[in-house]
Amino acid sequence: MKALIVYYSMYSNTEKIANVFAKKINADLINLKESNEIKIDNYDLIGFGSGVYRESLSSKLLNCVEKLDLKGKNVFVFSTSGIGARFYNNKLLKILRSKGAICKGSFACKGYYTTTEIKKNMIFELFRKLSEGHPDEKDIQKAEKFIDNMIKSI
Ligand SMILES: Cc1cc2nc3c(=O)[nH]c(=O)nc-3n(C[C@H](O)[C@H](O)[C@H](O)COP(=O)(O)O)c2cc1C
Repeated sequence: MKALIVYYSMYSNTEKIANVFAKKINADLINLKESNEIKIDNYDLIGFGSGVYRESLSSKLLNCVEKLDLKGKNVFVFSTSGIGARFYNNKLLKILRSKGAICKGSFACKGYYTTTEIKKNMIFELFRKLSEGHPDEKDIQKAEKFIDNMIKSI
């Protein structure tokens, strides 16, 4: 089975999870920060991942998915965020389903960021506090378990 993982990660947390998945299932990786060219014809399974920025997955990832022909493709979704909630993946799952993809799973964990670029405000500071030290070893183990179980279901 050939697998591909397409991700957008501004602060490397989602990239860390993408690498965990890729190592486990020997997937090719496309980092949307570096490439916009996505060819999915040869793949049996495609994972889509992003950090959460202002309540949404990256628009770069969402726009890229809109352009793909996903009919009958096995897909999964993952994200990292301050609160680590899976509901952030729902919009992307909806788009994927509307394009005929078969959604095999949804993973989320917390991710910490440090930057001086963003003007400090209370809500971003809260996200930062909640996610300090993540993704940690436990998150990595959960990610490994998620991908192992998903592969078994295909
Ligand atoms: C500009 C900005 C907006 C963010 N908005 C949210 C948000 O709405 N909800 C949340 O839970 N976390 C939010 N976060 C935290 C990030 O989702 C989290 O650090 C994530 O791991 C970043 O992913 P990345 O390292 O792959 O870029 C935000 C972070 C930044 C920098």
